[in-house]
Amino acid sequence: MLLVVTLLALIGWLLWKDSRSREHWRRLGLDWEEACPLHRPLALLRSLAPGLPQVCRLYRSSSAPVLGFFKGRTPVLMVRDPALVVAIMQADFQHFADKRHPIQLDKSEDPLSQHLIGLTGEKWKMIRSKLTPIFSSGKIKESLPLMEEAVDDILPELKAEEVDIYQLAVTLVTDVILSYAFGLSRQDPNRGLVRRMGMKSIQANYRIALKRAIRFCFPKLFRLLRLRAFEPQVTSFFVEFVKHAIWKIQASSHIGRADFISRLGSVAAVVPEEERDGMVAAQVFSFYVAGFETTCFALSTSIYELSKNPEVLMKARKELDPLLEKHGCFSYEALQEATYLTQIIQESMRMYPADYATPRICTKPYQIPGTNIVLEKGTEVLIPGFCLSRDPRYHDDPLKFDPERFSTENKVNIIPGTYLPFGDGPRKCIAVRFSMLELKYVLARVISAYDLELDPTTPRELTFDENSRVTHYCGRILVRFNKRRNLLSELIPEN
Ligand code: HEM
Repeated sequence: MLLVVTLLALIGWLLWKDSRSREHWRRLGLDWEEACPLHRPLALLRSLAPGLPQVCRLYRSSSAPVLGFFKGRTPVLMVRDPALVVAIMQADFQHFADKRHPIQLDKSEDPLSQHLIGLTGEKWKMIRSKLTPIFSSGKIKESLPLMEEAVDDILPELKAEEVDIYQLAVTLVTDVILSYAFGLSRQDPNRGLVRRMGMKSIQANYRIALKRAIRFCFPKLFRLLRLRAFEPQVTSFFVEFVKHAIWKIQASSHIGRADFISRLGSVAAVVPEEERDGMVAAQVFSFYVAGFETTCFALSTSIYELSKNPEVLMKARKELDPLLEKHGCFSYEALQEATYLTQIIQESMRMYPADYATPRICTKPYQIPGTNIVLEKGTEVLIPGFCLSRDPRYHDDPLKFDPERFSTENKVNIIPGTYLPFGDGPRKCIAVRFSMLELKYVLARVISAYDLELDPTTPRELTFDENSRVTHYCGRILVRFNKRRNLLSELIPEN
C-alpha cells in the first residue's frame, strides 16, 4: 500500500514538474511552441536535438523577434531579429559567453572534450587567447606549401568522369589536417593510422547521436552514467600521439615545419601539468571536431555552384589567369588579390552555411532590449544562421547564386546579423583565415585547370539531411572535371 502511494505521489510530482516546465515561455509572455507531450516518446526524443528542417520550420512559424521552444523539456530561445543576434554575439557578449552548459568534464577520461568549442568561462578565455596568435595571417601563410602538396597529389587524378565532390573534399581536407594540424610529413608512416583514427572520431551513428543528446540535454546523467564524448580508443590514441609528437618537436627533430602542433607550446605553458597532454591534444583534435565537416561541406558546395554556373567560373578565371601570370603560382599574395574568388566562397557560404544554428548560453541574466523580458542565467539561445541568410526579407532572391552580393559596392548593404557562416563576436570561428586560405587555394587550382560539369543525376537544388549535426545535403554531388584547353599554367615555364 505504502509503495503504491509513494509511486502515485512520484508520478503526480513528475507530471506537475512536467507541466510547470512546459509553461516556461508562457510565463515570460513570448511567442512559443508547445513542448512535445510525454505520450509521443519518439517525437520527444527527436526534439532533443532539432535538425535543420525543425529549425527552419520553427523560424518560419513566427514573425516575432524571438521565439521560445523546447528541446525535450529544456527551454530554448530562438533569436529571429538580426539586431538582437548582433547584440547577443557582440555588444552583449558578456551575457552570452558560452556555447554550451559547463559540464564537469572528467579530464582524465574525456580529455579530448576540452577543445575550444567545449570550453567555458575563464578557461575558454585563456586558451582562446593563446590560440589566437597561432591562427594569425602571418602563421597561416606558412601553411600554404602544405596545402599545395595536398592539391598536387589530387589534382592530376581528376578525370572527365563523375567525381563525388564530398569524397574529394574529404581526401583533400584530411591531407591538410595530417600535414598541418598533426605535423606529419608525406613520408611519415603514421599517416594512414592517424587518418583512420580521425575518420573514426567523426563517424556518426545512432549510439553516438544518443550519447550526444544526453550530454547536451542531461549533463548530470551523462556524468552519472560515466559516458564519454569520444571512444576510449580514439581518446588514448590521440592523446598519446600528440604527446609523443610534442616530445619529438622538443627533441628538435622537427625543425623547419610550419605546422600547428609545433606551436602549441604557449597553450601547454598555461595548463596545469596533469591536464596538459589532454588539453593540447584536444586543440589539435579540434581540426577534426570543428574543421573537418565544415570545410568539406564548404568546398563541395562551392564546387557544386561553380559547376552549375559556368559564367561565374569564367569570370573567376578572368581574375585568376592574370594573377597566375603575375605571381607565377597561387601564392598567398596572389590569393589576397583574388577578390572575386572570395565573393564566390562568401556567396556559397551564404546559401550553404555549415553551422545551421549557432548556440549560446545566457551566462548572466539578460533583459531583451525594448522589452521587460529577462532571460535567466543558463537559458539556451539558438541563432538560426541558415534561415537568416536565406530569408528573402534580408537577401533578395535568396536561392539565386550571385557572388555580386559581396562586391565592394554591394556588401555594405548586407544587414548585420543575417550572414554568419563563421559565427560572430569573440566566439567567432578561430580559423576563418586558415579556412578561407584553404578554400581559395583549392578552388583557384581547380578553376584554372578544369571546366566543371555537373552530372545529370545530381539535383539542381539541394535538399538537406535532417539527422546531421552540421548542414549536410542528401545524396551525392557528382561533377566531371574536363581538362581546360589552353591551360595557362602550361604556358608558364617552371620557375
Ligand atoms: C569552412 C570551414 C569552417 C566553417 C564554415 C566554420 C564555422 C564555424 C562556426 C559557425 C563556428 C561557431 C562560431 C560562433 O559560435 O560564433 C566555429 C567555431 C569554431 N571553429 Fe570553425 N569553421 C570552419 C573551419 C574551422 C577549422 C579548419 C578549424 C580548425 C581548428 C575550426 C575551429 C573552430 C573552433 C575551435 C571554434 C570554436 C571557437 C570558440 O568557441 O572560441 N573551424 N566555426
